[in-house]
Amino acid sequence: MYKKSFILIMVLALLLSMTSTNFTAYGASSPRVSLAKANAEALRLNQFGLLAGTGNGFALEEIPTRLQGIVMLIRMMGEESEAKACTYTHPFTDVPEWGDRYVAWAYHKNYTYGTSETTFSANDPMTAQQYLAFTLRALGYGEDTKFQTTIEDAIRFGLLSAQDYNDPSASFLRADMVHITYGALLANEKTTGQPFYLYLIAKGLMDPGITEEELANLTYEEPAGEEILPIPREFLGLPYYYADNLERYLSYKDKNPQLDFGKVILNVNIGLDKPFYTDIKTISQPNRIDVLVNKYNKLPDNFKPQLEEIPSTYNASGVGKQYLRKEAKDAFILMHKDAKKLGLKITAYGTYRSIQTQNDIWNRKVKSGRTIEDVDSLNARGGHSEHHTGLAIDVIRNDYTMEKTKEFSWIKDNAHKYGFIIRYPKGKESITGYAYEPWHLRYLGPELATKVYESGLTYEEYYAMHIEPTLK
Ligand code: DAL
Ligand code: ZN
Repeated sequence: MYKKSFILIMVLALLLSMTSTNFTAYGASSPRVSLAKANAEALRLNQFGLLAGTGNGFALEEIPTRLQGIVMLIRMMGEESEAKACTYTHPFTDVPEWGDRYVAWAYHKNYTYGTSETTFSANDPMTAQQYLAFTLRALGYGEDTKFQTTIEDAIRFGLLSAQDYNDPSASFLRADMVHITYGALLANEKTTGQPFYLYLIAKGLMDPGITEEELANLTYEEPAGEEILPIPREFLGLPYYYADNLERYLSYKDKNPQLDFGKVILNVNIGLDKPFYTDIKTISQPNRIDVLVNKYNKLPDNFKPQLEEIPSTYNASGVGKQYLRKEAKDAFILMHKDAKKLGLKITAYGTYRSIQTQNDIWNRKVKSGRTIEDVDSLNARGGHSEHHTGLAIDVIRNDYTMEKTKEFSWIKDNAHKYGFIIRYPKGKESITGYAYEPWHLRYLGPELATKVYESGLTYEEYYAMHIEPTLK
């Protein structure tokens, strides 16, 4: 058990003043450094302009990602504006757009070599060893340290003291990253043999009046007592835990006490704490193959993808001209041909539909006397249908007899290999917002479709867990 942090108590007090939700307090395990100490260091670094806060204060208890670590390192080096403007390249294919310039800079400066020739693993948790290696390289010790001995080397080069790292099982938190950065100020830079803070002063990045003594004497108070957290610590470290949503998580948990916090966080991120078609966001990158279109996410009103016509031999009879995006069309034709060799006939029954057409369909169904709930469970409202993307295809026919065909038996086990998922599975209506649709396939590309298929998750869940965090 660890000591309680006064920041947490303040957060707690604030929360209690904002919401009537009662929540259980959770005891927690320790970060490596004391939170009170890391907080004092964070405040100092913030004054020096070497650390930016987040919407959640310094978020000292969050587990940093590798990309966040690189950003922090570059800020510590006073190189952020140079990094943002740099034109260097890097060989990694998994860096989100917002981090691209930082990673290119860090790669050029040899702070990082990535996790393989083509991956940086931007969203993986940062480890102590990795962050210390980055920092040692930045201080000029790249050739004097081996990755395996980073912690000992960091102690040897004065970056941290041995007693700070006496608990190897503790999680590496932003608090620890702050502590290492603070430690770096007083560690000697290799080339000059001088403490690193003098380099920052020389660069005009720190007040020249600051002395070594001032940096070394940090005053802070260790509050006594048990730490209290609103949500158990392991959930606070999830890549899809967003501090801004905390109030919604707590209120949703209150209404659904049977759900664990992982599920609570996921459902709230999807939007499920609010009725369908509320808090609708307009999709900002509608041409992404992995775009999530649903009742909370609509396409821009003027959206129209680039389409190609499907040769009519692949269509169900009587459905007229059909269009898909090239990627989906090619994959569909390949799937059709492979299935044909097994004596199966997989045809296109419905493909691209414009936003206007979808509006008309929805209005016509409602005017025909059906309830809005009933229509909503089967038909998207205009702007909210995957069919607008040119990546969705209804195969064979859109009634439940389709599920009994030998074609469907094959599709359900093989479509992902061609890049398609069954987008509205049975039993997942409360998440997708739609009745089971065995006929509705969505193209995601073979790699992603296979991951979604193997995960057993709906696309809403998979997206919230694995894709959205890479875009934030
Ligand atoms: N039937 C699906 C949900 C659509 O209308 O897009
Ligand atoms: Zn459909």
